[in-house]
Amino acid sequence: DRPITLLGIESSCDDTGAAVVRRHPDGRAEILSNRVAGQAELHAAFGGVVPEIAARAHAEKLDIIVEAALDEAGLTLDALDGIAVTAGPGLIGGVLSGVMCAKGLATGAGLPLIGVNHLAGHALTPRLTDGLAFPYLMLLVSGGHCQFLLVEGADSFRRLGGTIDDAPGEAFDKTARLLALPQPGGPHVERTAADGDPARFAFPRPLLDRPGCDMSFSGLKTALLRARDACIAETGGAGLRSRDRDDLCAGFQAAVADVLEEKSRRAIAIYLDSAPADPALAVAGGVAANRLIRTRLQALCDETGLRFTAPPLRLCTDNAAMIAWAGIERGLVGPADDMALAARPRWPL
Ligand code: KG4
Ligand code: ZN
Repeated sequence: DRPITLLGIESSCDDTGAAVVRRHPDGRAEILSNRVAGQAELHAAFGGVVPEIAARAHAEKLDIIVEAALDEAGLTLDALDGIAVTAGPGLIGGVLSGVMCAKGLATGAGLPLIGVNHLAGHALTPRLTDGLAFPYLMLLVSGGHCQFLLVEGADSFRRLGGTIDDAPGEAFDKTARLLALPQPGGPHVERTAADGDPARFAFPRPLLDRPGCDMSFSGLKTALLRARDACIAETGGAGLRSRDRDDLCAGFQAAVADVLEEKSRRAIAIYLDSAPADPALAVAGGVAANRLIRTRLQALCDETGLRFTAPPLRLCTDNAAMIAWAGIERGLVGPADDMALAARPRWPL
């Protein structure tokens, strides 16, 4: 029983991250450093992440970020117990850059290499931040992900349901685009919704009438587009009035919150069937920053007797500390990888 210290590397989307995380013998986690370099400005002109640009930026930045993470932790490579890297799912060019970087470092320093599933990184974060015990329920909601996971162990996840089309963050971003609000749209839509009337527009709650935990958010975007155009037509084409924009945002946000709350209720029922000792729901992903959604989930947990946890935002969004931690957890229950570790664009949990 001794501390385990891992370097984590993340490059599966548009954030280049490196972090050093230590697990103490008593199970306590300590983040020694957590560096993230975003690429928002590189992709801003294109209205989305451009895979080729992302891959090149990762390749250029990885060495510098890794060095900065080690410096901040005050450690050199030989003080580590291994290197964890996101091996998928994600944009393949970026994942490859990270995996190649990790292989080079691991070979050079003679360290074990651990390939981590990016989703496992998100799913295990509440253990890093709050020491949650297995099994717990996780709602992962971001720009790219939307699913309920029953987290039963470091290498054991059960998917209870998820979106069949867009992720909620994507829907927030599209809504912002339709209403000429800046990107990423979530925070702007939330701010605009604060002054709006959520009941003025009757937006659909897709799949709410169907059993199960699957969700759909793409129909919402179409409804919003139609309502927006009707508002513009009312002004004789002069453009959206600010009241219209407030109400559209409020109506959209209320619809997303209703769907997430109701589907969470069902996921909780499935989870409680297994009679967990210390039931808990954790949320992760950028959309977990939304105050209405948080409030609704907190109330639902109060009602059903669950502990509700939401890791701090910088550990909720893409980062390398969660990859280092997931590497530590996986290293404790299974063998390390070798130089045959592949980068996988798709990798269901
Ligand atoms: O987890 P994240 O940083 O990146 C991935 O998508 O993996 O999540 C980013 C997403 C964006 O779509 C952004 O619009 C959304 O999270 N988001 C929000 C809020 N803050 C960020 N959505 C709703 N309300 C917010 N306050
Ligand atoms: Zn992610």
